[in-house]
Amino acid sequence: MKGFPIEKATNLRTPFYYYDTELLRRTLQAIRKEMETHPDYRLHYAVKANANPRILEIIRKEGFGADCVSGGEIEACIRAGFSGDSIVFAGVGKSDWEIELGIEKNIAFFNVESIPELEVINQLAATRQKKARVAFRINPNVGAHTHANITTGLAENKFGIDMGDMEKVIGIAAGMEHVEPVGLHFHIGSQILEMDDFKALCLRINELQDRLEKQGITVKNINVGGGLGIDYSCPDEVPVPDFSSYFRTYAEHLQLRPGQLLHFELGRAVVGQCGSLITKVLYVKQTTHKQFAIVDAGMTDLIRPALYGACHRIENLSNKDAEETYDIVGPICESSDVFAKAYRLPRCRRNDLLALRSAGAYGEIMAMQYNCRPLPPAYFTEDFA
Ligand code: LLP
Repeated sequence: MKGFPIEKATNLRTPFYYYDTELLRRTLQAIRKEMETHPDYRLHYAVKANANPRILEIIRKEGFGADCVSGGEIEACIRAGFSGDSIVFAGVGKSDWEIELGIEKNIAFFNVESIPELEVINQLAATRQKKARVAFRINPNVGAHTHANITTGLAENKFGIDMGDMEKVIGIAAGMEHVEPVGLHFHIGSQILEMDDFKALCLRINELQDRLEKQGITVKNINVGGGLGIDYSCPDEVPVPDFSSYFRTYAEHLQLRPGQLLHFELGRAVVGQCGSLITKVLYVKQTTHKQFAIVDAGMTDLIRPALYGACHRIENLSNKDAEETYDIVGPICESSDVFAKAYRLPRCRRNDLLALRSAGAYGEIMAMQYNCRPLPPAYFTEDFA
């Protein structure tokens, strides 16, 4: 891993997350450059990917907004200096206190996922004599070529309102005094690398906009969610995702109406490549069947391999000897606590440092304390300066 301060890091207690701040900034600047060519595009960083306060602050300073899915995320963003009106708030199950917080902070809009939720937002806004801006999350019934657990835009998923019900829902909202319909929201899934999936979404949105327009309905904001994937196998070759192709797909296929703004909620593509989980080899254990490298990080620190069968590239930072084959496993009392099977790595010795790459998104934030393990700390490039 280029630029990792191995000498300075050797004495730190492991496991920990390491963030390459320069790469994060470079990624954000690549997005900013795209936004300059598309002045009607807005990015709300999907906080669920990584809510580390230092990460949030860097993203906020680059001028981006935030996409939150809980009151806790809204609070984290406010603490990191995001203005209320740069925040959008989604989620199928918003609690009353979370909706109240969104109203109080005057967020840009709520992404509403059902009629009962719309009714509650209307009631809670009424008690404050306010009008809450809402966008309707629509289930576009578009499949994405990704892991089944992270596709969200299919009719069978719990997310959003059926596209066929939109006229009805907009009609209901129009009759409510304390909500203002301002947008349509979509999201088809995560870790998507085929631009044709996003093109399919564009075509569905065009279809819906044409239909709504015939009824005299237009909205100010179209929000297409996130989902752009990263290259987990070659983090050094593709450190910054191909934002040009991504935004070009929308520019070419989505028919924005005059004055409409197009919002994006990218998470993984923003922070995925800048983070690594650093862990130490505790033991190399030989059985009759195979060789295990037992490391001090586990599924509690990075759950993606156990939960989705995700493959993170693993590197031995301490040793470049000839490669051997290992199952790389953590110390947790669960058989699924495996980072990789039959993985080729330079010979592992006790205390070697390994890096699990591309762990900036859905890594630290999904860490847990099972087995009473402490949460992994995070260090940034400048901490080693
Ligand atoms: N907007 C909505 C409505 C979402 O549900 C999500 C992610 C995003 C934006 C951001 O998607 P991204 O750009 O990061 O793909 N824990 C899983 C990923 C779950 C994604 C959930 N929704 C993983 O580790 O792969």
